[in-house]
Amino acid sequence: MRYTYGQSETAAQRLKQIARVFDPHSSAFIKSQVDLPVKVAIDLGCGPGFTTRMLARASRAANTCGLDASSEFLREAKRRFSDYEFIQHDLTRTPFPVNGGVMYCRFLLSHLRQPVSLMNRWSRLLPTGGLLLAEELEAIDTGIEVFQRYLTINQGLVASQGARLYVGAELARGKFDARVRLNQPFILPVTNSDAATMFFSNTTSIWEKEEFVLGKVPAAELREISQALKAMIDDGDRRTGIIWKMRRILIQA
Ligand SMILES: C[S@@+](CC[C@H](N)C(=O)[O-])C[C@H]1O[C@@H](n2cnc3c(N)ncnc32)[C@H](O)[C@@H]1O
Repeated sequence: MRYTYGQSETAAQRLKQIARVFDPHSSAFIKSQVDLPVKVAIDLGCGPGFTTRMLARASRAANTCGLDASSEFLREAKRRFSDYEFIQHDLTRTPFPVNGGVMYCRFLLSHLRQPVSLMNRWSRLLPTGGLLLAEELEAIDTGIEVFQRYLTINQGLVASQGARLYVGAELARGKFDARVRLNQPFILPVTNSDAATMFFSNTTSIWEKEEFVLGKVPAAELREISQALKAMIDDGDRRTGIIWKMRRILIQA
């Protein structure tokens, strides 16, 4: 299954912006849960490596490895973060080319089928006592119309590829084989300009190539959404009219 939001330089910049908004919170989560020395930590779906650096620092692992299916993102990750190892791997296939005592994923399972069964397969790769941490999207709540229109289109696009954007609810009620040490929501209000920055690049670099989007939404409406997001970025709108709800799951083998 292909990754919905592409692998271009624009997509990498979008993930950099996501890192800026989410990394401080992800880092605090990992620090609060990883209490033993870690030899190897694995970042599942590492993209261009921002989460890998965050995981390495937060877990204080001796070695950190990022796994991703995208050769473009991995090339970028190796260029930016030479302290870590990056390996191309399709995460729907087990075992992995590397073993680790801590595995972490963020914004990955929205793009994969059967997320609970995948997490169960991944948790079987852990040594006894090893940890699998997931931070995945459960909902995005907003009263701002342009954000709602953007999100409805993206939800449909991800669904058209057989996955579920708001995968968090499925994880929250998932049946896991190993011990679930934590299953909690995490709420993060985001400024309108940060949200617009994270959304805008998909309207220019992804939507125009997607048959699902082009078939469902008139070109004029797509342009209107894109322009409204750009205006919010240019205005530097610091109000928080949008809230991310993440699902955090921690499994211990
Ligand atoms: C939204 S990005 C998240 C990147 C990073 N975890 C973050 O939070 O910024 C999802 C990543 O998952 C990767 N991915 C999607 N399907 C995959 C698969 N089957 N195997 C490995 N990586 C995959 C994509 O290439 C992309 O880099």
